[in-house]
Amino acid sequence: MPTPRQILVTSALPYANGAIHLGHLVEYIQTDIWVRFQKMQGSECWYVCADDTHGTPIMLRADKEGITPEELIRRVHGEHTRDFAGFHVQFDNYHTTHSEETRHYANDIYGRLKAAGLIEVRPIEQFYDPVRQMFLPDRYIKGECPKCGTKDQYGDSCESCGAAYAPTELKNPYSAVSGATPVRKSSDHFFFKLSDPRCQAFLRRWTREQGRLQPEASNKMQEWLGAEGENKLTDWDISRDAPYFGFEIPGAPGKFFYVWLDAPIGYFGSFRNFAEKKRAEGAIIDVDAFIRPGGNTEMVHFIGKDILYFHALFWPAELEHAGYRTPTKIFAHGFLTVDGQKMSKSRGTFITAESYLKQGLNPEWLRYYYAAKLSGAMEDIDLNLEDFVARVNSDLVGKYINIASRCAGFISKRFDAELMQSSSVLISETQTAAASIAGLYEQREYGKALREVMALADRANQFVNEEKPWELARKEGGEQALHRVCSEAINLFRLLTLYLKPVLPQLAGNIERFLNVEPLRWADAGSLIPAGHRINEYTHLMTRIDPRQVDALVEANKVSLAPTPVPQPHSQQRHAEHQQHAEEKAAVSHIGIDDFSKVDLRIARIANAEPVEGAEKLIKLTLDLGTETRTVFAGIKSAYDPAALAGRLTVMVANLAPRKMKFGLSEGMVLAASGEGPGIFLLSPDSGAQPGMKVK
Ligand code: MSP
Ligand code: ZN
Repeated sequence: MPTPRQILVTSALPYANGAIHLGHLVEYIQTDIWVRFQKMQGSECWYVCADDTHGTPIMLRADKEGITPEELIRRVHGEHTRDFAGFHVQFDNYHTTHSEETRHYANDIYGRLKAAGLIEVRPIEQFYDPVRQMFLPDRYIKGECPKCGTKDQYGDSCESCGAAYAPTELKNPYSAVSGATPVRKSSDHFFFKLSDPRCQAFLRRWTREQGRLQPEASNKMQEWLGAEGENKLTDWDISRDAPYFGFEIPGAPGKFFYVWLDAPIGYFGSFRNFAEKKRAEGAIIDVDAFIRPGGNTEMVHFIGKDILYFHALFWPAELEHAGYRTPTKIFAHGFLTVDGQKMSKSRGTFITAESYLKQGLNPEWLRYYYAAKLSGAMEDIDLNLEDFVARVNSDLVGKYINIASRCAGFISKRFDAELMQSSSVLISETQTAAASIAGLYEQREYGKALREVMALADRANQFVNEEKPWELARKEGGEQALHRVCSEAINLFRLLTLYLKPVLPQLAGNIERFLNVEPLRWADAGSLIPAGHRINEYTHLMTRIDPRQVDALVEANKVSLAPTPVPQPHSQQRHAEHQQHAEEKAAVSHIGIDDFSKVDLRIARIANAEPVEGAEKLIKLTLDLGTETRTVFAGIKSAYDPAALAGRLTVMVANLAPRKMKFGLSEGMVLAASGEGPGIFLLSPDSGAQPGMKVK
């Protein structure tokens, strides 16, 4: 027996300020399939992940919601855990970067890099918001494009003409946080010296090592590294000044690790947390054997192509020079498009995991479809909604499930649920395929693996079509043949189930119960169900997708009303300083009058307005609707003095679902205008309007 492989597997840590959507799921499903496959092979394989919780966007988002960052990340952790479980993504541990374990490794790695002379402190000048009293990341500075003059452009690039520039080049810059004009201010920053010859030499070697990176990723790296002798890598700024939600740098009060420094370290934090939980159960996992050099273990990171830079350059360079092991492999996948286009809120294709499940769609349909589209390459994958319906219905229901549904009944009714001994060329060829299908899973060539499985399913169906059990059942003396054919079909079905199990774990579990067999492992492909084994009653295993379900899903995700007045940090607000951002503008599409009349708009008199202790953005409003009063927390403090609001009329949404906030229940919303620039403007009716009047 060869010793089992020991593999630590990770998926990228999703940001804790947004919902999991179908784009994310490409990665978590891809990784989950690989991990389940490894486990079926008998490897010791641990799959860890966590929420990526630090940084400016999370701090500001919490602020806007009037809660602490800790409260925000706790809530999101619950949502993410629920969404992943809903798609059968089975982490061994799902932790948070805001943890003592992660802090421990961050400090340790930082301390070792410092001791190795790879940390340098030097002042840099940046934009500073004098009102909010914070340094502004590029994307929180807006202004006029230096090239074409378009207003309200972000600090890194212009959406109108596409020009890329530094935030300092913007004309009439303003802070997207407070609206104030930013000032230039200098402060000390900590740098990881990626330009050091040691890092350069190491990365040149490491990124070319066989099997570490996909060929296209390795080529990208050579581009970033430049030609031999050329020193293209610049030092990496790993600190941010307070206020910042993150870990304070040891010995540097007011300086925090930049979120991308502690994010990958969160892989280790989660793994250590896992080992501690296991130890409490009496099991020993040697963490160091997985994260220190010298062992036979493997460490594999699944990531999206957008974060390759962090994982293939910064991360290995840090690890190497801090005395940790470097990744065995980095598997980068492409981006999801829906119907050939970027996911879009206005088209309804920016679909959250939660809404998919809420609409009652089966998560295994999506797992199958993604798997059928995935390969080991870094290319984008398209979710074509029409093809999704067709493929799932034809492959899963039409081909695969069909084998069992046509034969199981005869076994139960005619043979007391007992199978007979099977053997045939088709069976042994289906068994032999185990090796090549395994090779394809290992290489992440899931599409090819499934094509091979479906070709075997075609042959199994062809066998059933030719033998015609329904005719044998009516034929005098057909008994024996009927038993043989149905037993063979059930054995084929079991083998196909085994091969599909990494992709369809829940369905496989149901089928194991139906077949009355132990959980299938890869080695079970070598054996068949013994004669005399009894199966359980066949119950319906999987339904077809009704295309109307997909239409309803898209409809439910259409953003048809203008978004909330205060801009929300959106999910594309990702790798702040290292990513060119490409914002999806939620375009306003048409709605019918029926949709509009769902919104109950009323004239309200502000009976009272007071500040909210502990929430610098909020004003607590008591609104008089004529027949009743409502409490509403409005994020308008930056623009209004509470004292000046009492007595005036405004417009409120009276049928908005009440929302529980830290400070109390908010029972509606007042309407205010705002643009990309500073300022919030509360609506008022013309004189004569009375509290309670309907606005329509
Ligand atoms: N927090 C960072 C990762 C830190 S890892 C130490 C991050 N978070 S993310 O939430 O924006 O993305 C998480 C993962 O999902 C990334 O690998 C990203 O590439 C992937 N995807 C996010 N949107 C995606 C698509 N539309 N399509 C495919 N994968 C996508 O990046
Ligand atoms: Zn421009």
